Amino acid sequence: MHLLLLNGPNLNLLGQREPGIYGHSTLSMIEADLKREAEAAGAELACFQSNFEGALVDKIHAAIGSVHGILINAGAYTHSSIALRDALAGVAIPYVELHLSNTHSRETFRHHSFLAAGAVGVVCGFGAMSYSLALQGLLEHLRAQAS
Ligand code: DQA
Repeated sequence: MHLLLLNGPNLNLLGQREPGIYGHSTLSMIEADLKREAEAAGAELACFQSNFEGALVDKIHAAIGSVHGILINAGAYTHSSIALRDALAGVAIPYVELHLSNTHSRETFRHHSFLAAGAVGVVCGFGAMSYSLALQGLLEHLRAQAS
């Protein structure tokens, strides 16, 4: 099973970016842990981060035919990007939306997600653990679909 983890803008700064909100783990640490976790579950995880909306759209398109499921923390694009929403709908690959912080307990502009309605599920508020919980949810969903 091939999975893709996408991270959007500013998530390359994890570890130094507002640690009171996002914690101390760097993105490389999170990616390495998640790759190990996916491997232990019999899946292969590829990771990609970009600060550019179009690069994320291109990566989603490139997933057609080779990726079974997507984990996405689109960062601020979650709240603004119809292009990402359309790309995910266009490729029709199951995806889980995730956030380190609880976006619903923060500023009102973070309460709306353009991606949530099309997602298998949404995980937010568990810090770096949100990635792991999202992976577990996606794997369960894909296994249930396959059986
Ligand atoms: C975030 C939440 C977003 O609102 C914010 O713009 C981010 C990070 C999170 O993981 O908590 O960049 O996606």
